[in-house]
Amino acid sequence: MRDVAVIGIGIQKWGELWERSLRDLWVEAALNAINDAGVDHIDSMYVGCMSGGLFVGQEHLSSLLADYLGVCPVPATRVESACASGGMALRSGFIEVASGLSDIVLVSGVEKMTDVDGGGATYALATAADAEYEVYQGATFPGLYAMVARDYMHRYGLTREQLAQVAVKNHDNGVLNPHAQFPMKMSLETVMNSTMIADPLRLMDCSPITDGAAAAILCPLEMARDLSKNPPIKVSGMGAATDRIALHDRPDFCEFRATVKAAEAAYKMAGVGPDEIDFAEVHDCFTIAELCVIEALGFFARGTAGQATAAGETARDGKKPINTSGGLKSKGHPVGATGIGQIHELVTQLRGTAGERQVAGVKRGLAQNMGGSGGSTVCHILEVV
Ligand code: COA
Repeated sequence: MRDVAVIGIGIQKWGELWERSLRDLWVEAALNAINDAGVDHIDSMYVGCMSGGLFVGQEHLSSLLADYLGVCPVPATRVESACASGGMALRSGFIEVASGLSDIVLVSGVEKMTDVDGGGATYALATAADAEYEVYQGATFPGLYAMVARDYMHRYGLTREQLAQVAVKNHDNGVLNPHAQFPMKMSLETVMNSTMIADPLRLMDCSPITDGAAAAILCPLEMARDLSKNPPIKVSGMGAATDRIALHDRPDFCEFRATVKAAEAAYKMAGVGPDEIDFAEVHDCFTIAELCVIEALGFFARGTAGQATAAGETARDGKKPINTSGGLKSKGHPVGATGIGQIHELVTQLRGTAGERQVAGVKRGLAQNMGGSGGSTVCHILEVV
């Protein structure tokens, strides 16, 4: 298997982008990544997208987007794993480069979510849960994660303030990210007094509905310095896993087993453990998700992530900075693009070009991208070589 590097990244400011179409957003991000890498062609491409059909009435995205990028007849593949579609697209591109099948591969994600109304978006997202046993009974993602939050509070004494602190911290980071949808500071009081969505989760505990795209260029590590002026960032670890899709089928709501397994595989491939990860981008689709995930990744012991967050341990200047981009909460969550958006932040930090939100001296970062309420997860470890 060949070592794989990221040599280019592209994104735009995410948000409610009425004037832009899905194809516009994706082509902009893809061209930004190609220009950033400085390559003159791609051999293959992958597109992560959760639901082009329900959000904008467009499927067959692989060919459509290859066409609009002007790269036909390169092979193009759409990858779907709900909100983990982007991370799974990276995994697919990694395998293609590592295997020796292709040298320069574009991996990307896109979602255009605001062309439907709130009910339409909630319905489209809910198709990633168990339709027969969860959705038909009225469960939505805010509702499912609210059950996780209640269980966590009951078992570990998590307070409402500790939960809110996740949103406060992520908005503190997002305010420094020019690509963030909601780059504003958020006080503890604002989070705690925001509109109730699904008790105990309030509006400011939830990631928003977002339009956006992101892309990256992969190549064999041994070719990276010849192909691009950018310092190569090695993909040193990768792991993916699944879990029972319906929450009620799991023995423990608060243990995200797919994340545990995906992280174990990524750590093994990279030859490191959680203590050797300098910072991470994780899937904070709801504040409670960030707490469960950073425990599943082995950064904090079970039941302690809320206290650690409130103590500042996950802040930019803390011992384990989490979501320096602002996370899904502040940067936004265009579901199919989120996993590649995380890679954009890791590469930016590892190149040392994150400006005011730069974490000093980081050499290795982890991205954790999760589908639904944890039914699928993919983790990647990136490092400076
Ligand atoms: N941060 C700051 N402000 C936010 C925000 C956020 N994360 N999310 C929404 N807002 C603002 C909006 O701009 C809007 O402000 P305005 O009234 O001044 O225009 C206001 O809050 C209400 O937002 P709106 O989008 O109209 O709320 P909504 O009631 O339609 O939807 C949720 C709120 C929480 C239901 C919706 O965002 C949601 O479903 N989020 C979860 C998405 C999800 O499940 N993703 C998949 C995860 S697995």
